Amino acid sequence: AAKPGTAGLAFTPIAPVDRTVDAFTVPVGYRWQPIIRWGDPLFSSVPAFDFDHQTAQAQAGQFGYNNDYLDIIADPSGKTGVLVTNHEYVNPDLMFTATTDPEERRRRGEIYKAAMGMAVVEVKRRRVGDPWEYVVDGERSRRVTVESTFELTGPAAGSDLVKTAADPEGRWVKGTLGNCAGGTTPWGTVLSGEENFNGYFAWAADTAEQQRYSAGSTTSTETGWEQYDERFDAHSPGYVNEPNRFGYIVEIDPSDPTSTPKKHTAMGRFKHEGANVTIAEDGRVVAYMGDDERNDYLYKFVSKGRYTAATSTGARRKNMRLLSEGDLFVARFSGNSPAAEITGTGAMPSDGAFDGTGEWIALTRGGESVVPGMTTEQVLVYTRLAADLMGATKMDRPEDVEPNPHTGKVYLALTNNSRRTVATLDEVNPITGNRYGHVVELTETSGQAGETFGWSILLLCGDPAVTDYTYFAGFPKELVSPISCPDNVAFDSEGNLWISTDGAPSTIGYNDGLFRVPLEGDQRGNVQQFLSVPREAETCGPVIHDREGLVFVAVQHPGENGAVGAQTSYFPDYVASHSGDKVAAPRPSVVQVWKG
Ligand code: FEO
Ligand code: CA
Ligand code: CA
Ligand code: CA
Repeated sequence: AAKPGTAGLAFTPIAPVDRTVDAFTVPVGYRWQPIIRWGDPLFSSVPAFDFDHQTAQAQAGQFGYNNDYLDIIADPSGKTGVLVTNHEYVNPDLMFTATTDPEERRRRGEIYKAAMGMAVVEVKRRRVGDPWEYVVDGERSRRVTVESTFELTGPAAGSDLVKTAADPEGRWVKGTLGNCAGGTTPWGTVLSGEENFNGYFAWAADTAEQQRYSAGSTTSTETGWEQYDERFDAHSPGYVNEPNRFGYIVEIDPSDPTSTPKKHTAMGRFKHEGANVTIAEDGRVVAYMGDDERNDYLYKFVSKGRYTAATSTGARRKNMRLLSEGDLFVARFSGNSPAAEITGTGAMPSDGAFDGTGEWIALTRGGESVVPGMTTEQVLVYTRLAADLMGATKMDRPEDVEPNPHTGKVYLALTNNSRRTVATLDEVNPITGNRYGHVVELTETSGQAGETFGWSILLLCGDPAVTDYTYFAGFPKELVSPISCPDNVAFDSEGNLWISTDGAPSTIGYNDGLFRVPLEGDQRGNVQQFLSVPREAETCGPVIHDREGLVFVAVQHPGENGAVGAQTSYFPDYVASHSGDKVAAPRPSVVQVWKG
């Protein structure tokens, strides 16, 4: 008999929720509650959230803004653990009323710095299986912000490309930016992708290298940091290289609040969505990574060293060096159907599938550049140019990419691509103007660390009632939940795929949500919506603890199109938090959902 899904999370799919509805919606029989919200204090020495009296000092000890990647890592007892999240960016219009006063803008700029980065927050519960609550003064709790120190590792650390006036060694970076998705490693650390870092700099686009990471020069930013903090002015002679110190995979050890987080240059520099790690047959570590830009690439990193499956301090220390040394590959996809059959309309090729083979093209081997005309340091700092030279396949915005722990197959969310033209169609990106995105299933054919793969399109997203080209792995399309703009992926204990979306409101008109997709048996491709986030929010960082009947999501940018005084969302409290006009500011929050 078909398995409709994991017993701990049996549910009847919710109906899609109209984009104007400001509600968090769960299946019948389920409840939801925030664990922690923007501004909640991590420590008793820090003031409670006070919308009208925000300070940078308070914010640096409070939960940050726009939580994205999320994991809930339980200790062996199951009753304590840590919540780890990214704080990708800020929404100034929802944090403050408008101002033009330069002094106040500077004061707020420091609050923005403190509201971004990452958080590690201790959590506890009475019994295994209960929902979690966060702990004030947790021993492992910490905030990492745009003012924290990071260590560069790998071949580009210490190179001339990453030296600045403040860091002549090129090894110590202040801050992390645009922390989007991520992954938790088998050795218990958390990886975080620095994605849209370019927008925080007054950007110099004088060289081809600079242009490849942000097309035009700019003189101002939304946060205004460049006005008073020289490191954000890339036109300044001492800080031309500052942007070269962002766009990496960050690794943080949530068990040690005094540890210095690392930025791994061996894993390349681009708009890193995130990184998900698995262990190859021979013990090497394999990380899959997307570059979230229209027409950019899918990457894979293979470590030189081998994973040690022990929990001793020595083993842990050794594992924490694995991502500093290894080889970087980029994906080239080939289709197996005649090009003439790829029409851009989703019409299936004559072999009945969008599928084919592919290869991982090396950018470094033995840790050294194999790209003609580029040094190792250049390959790792200007990775996009290296991939351009090697003929990688331009994809429809690679977001989260994650191996299924049950099968080793890799799932790649391609969120959308308005720049996919008729002239640039191929079998793996077969939809013109790809508005709703798609999901690719990739099967390694020469081992997890190998250099060949097979692939096929699992889902062509959209609302089947409106768009006729949607495809759900052959499952009857009249039975599935509409889905648009796949972004983050996760797996439950039975190997079902879970997908959270970003951008559905403006494409299919429904609020973003979280969806379960069985991958095996006769339910394969049956997209079922589990939850829906409030108006203008994005569903991020899904964590599926189905054996405990618990699901966690980070609700990012609720009410993003509103402003203070003209709010469009009042999530999650739906009460006044702003004494001035008695209207609540929406607060990005981590939410847990359980049966009850
Ligand atoms: Fe921050 Fe690619 O989403
Ligand atoms: Ca085919
Ligand atoms: Ca994302
Ligand atoms: Ca996103």
